[in-house]
Amino acid sequence: MQDSQIPTELTEFKPEVGLILGSGLGFFADDRIEVAGRIPYGEMDGFPVSTVPGHVGQFVYGHLDGKRVICMQGRFHYYEGYTMQQLTMPIRLMAKVGVHTLFVTNAAGGINRSYTPGDFMLLSDHINFLGTNPLIGAHSGEGVRFPDMTAVYDADLRSIIRTWAATKGIELKEGVYLATTGPSFETPAEIRAFAHLGADAVGMSTVPEAIVARQLGLRVIGISCITNAAAGISQSLLTHEEVSETADRVRPQFAELLASSVALA
Ligand code: HPA
Repeated sequence: MQDSQIPTELTEFKPEVGLILGSGLGFFADDRIEVAGRIPYGEMDGFPVSTVPGHVGQFVYGHLDGKRVICMQGRFHYYEGYTMQQLTMPIRLMAKVGVHTLFVTNAAGGINRSYTPGDFMLLSDHINFLGTNPLIGAHSGEGVRFPDMTAVYDADLRSIIRTWAATKGIELKEGVYLATTGPSFETPAEIRAFAHLGADAVGMSTVPEAIVARQLGLRVIGISCITNAAAGISQSLLTHEEVSETADRVRPQFAELLASSVALA
């Protein structure tokens, strides 16, 4: 991304914390942020535009608990047909304007049998099952060519969030997120295989953004909303409606968890 493509309102605002709001979680920007400005993705040169219903497609920036934050209200998915480079452009932009900590949220199917729809899971690690990597291609010169992925999701901040959740009596799971391309949901055989690989939850996002963020040296926290039991774990068929319904149902708890996590960052 060229420096000339970066909106001056963002360089002037200097956001510190970035938030990617996943499926059904876009409300957070309106409910919790003292909004200073909005920039529709379509107004930015070379920026992709989200095609998923329920994904508004804009940056919202402002203050949250005294911190300067920038939210992606709507994110890009690989299954929409974007390249890995396109869908991680917002992360490069956030890093350029000063973001040092990134919160990535998503909706995910629960593979771990102790998970129930409506649970929240802190990502302890991920499995990139996308069959590609957002860093493939000419090295931009930002960050290292072969970034370490030993500790993608910041252990210290996770521990602080866990402690906060425990004092509030909020149950917070912690586990491994596996990313598939989608857009089809998984087969029961795939879910059994993913369980053997060590995955606790499965989704169609987050991993590309987290990889780029780590290359750029950002501190990353990932939070999944477990919206459904993964294929074959429950007897029912999977639908996008079920995913949205669960995300809607746990909105207030999610907002509380995310806002408090940002405050602790
Ligand atoms: N699989 C993949 N992605 C998802 C799921 C799922 O079960 N639920 C929400 N996003």
